[in-house]
Amino acid sequence: VHRIGVFTSGGDAPGMNAAIRSVVRTSLHMGIECVGIRRGYHGLINGDFVPLDFDSVSGLSRRGGTMLYSARSEDFKSKQGLERAEATCKLLGLDALVGIGGDGTFRGLLTLAQKGLSVIGIPGTIDNDIACSTYTIGFDTACNTALESIDKLRDTMLSHERCSVVEVMGRHAGHVALNVGVACGATVVLVPEKEVDYEEDVMEPIRRARLAGRTHFMIIVAEGVEGGAYGVAQKIHEATALDTRVTVLGHVQRGGAPTVRDRIAATYMGYEAVRLLAEGKDCRVVAMQGESYVDYDITEALAMQKGLDQQTYTVMRVLTGV
Ligand code: F6P
Repeated sequence: VHRIGVFTSGGDAPGMNAAIRSVVRTSLHMGIECVGIRRGYHGLINGDFVPLDFDSVSGLSRRGGTMLYSARSEDFKSKQGLERAEATCKLLGLDALVGIGGDGTFRGLLTLAQKGLSVIGIPGTIDNDIACSTYTIGFDTACNTALESIDKLRDTMLSHERCSVVEVMGRHAGHVALNVGVACGATVVLVPEKEVDYEEDVMEPIRRARLAGRTHFMIIVAEGVEGGAYGVAQKIHEATALDTRVTVLGHVQRGGAPTVRDRIAATYMGYEAVRLLAEGKDCRVVAMQGESYVDYDITEALAMQKGLDQQTYTVMRVLTGV
């Protein structure tokens, strides 16, 4: 491998910058050049790039977002888009690509691998929904950001004896909701992976908490739950007459300086990606299994399924008294 193209794609996640820095510096250490492709697959199609050297990634570890910008590209899915991406790789003399993102990013890499490029994927998404990896870059920071806001909300809900319904990100996955719910001591946690029985899962825990003398309640709802936080709040108000307030945390969860966990994971994964390429391996996803760094074939990784962590789910149910 002589020249690697690195890019970020899909929803940004805190720690992506640290991963870019690591890819660049590891490459240089191994005598490989590095080029940054901007705006994900859009940049690959349009030849939007920036040469990266040791100094250009200095100070990046602590910065949220992605210096390479990110996008969700529809054009890449067309035959013409793919051809243009291939042409850009040829023009820039890239023999390998490292893509940081989620499943969509890995599917794109797979198409390019089928055209003969060496590709490696790094899991970067706050959702932690990459099946082959127990951890994805950005998850810890997003959970901490959500938790900080929820702790603040609790103060005001307590003062006014209200019921707070907080919507956290996760269109298809409830990992953020579940972890944040356990960490903040929520009354109820709702995730898209489980069908909601309103009587049993929501009203009962609230009634029990009320009987035990509670005067304020914290309900955590993942974005993907039917009706969202507004729908849930409405139902709670109708069934209990509690004074409810909805807070949708939204994209604030995607920003901010990455935590230690995200900086370390991103840095290791960036290093691993280049190491694999230097060893002649390709079409792999760097992943974590527990605290170890491993790698999977992209096709294999994409075929895997990931459910909620059963232990965390059980603990949540026990502690919310469901
Ligand atoms: O995949 C990350 C994520 O933040 C999801 O949790 C959320 O559903 C989605 O992206 C939002 O996407 P966008 O930033 O395009 O609105």
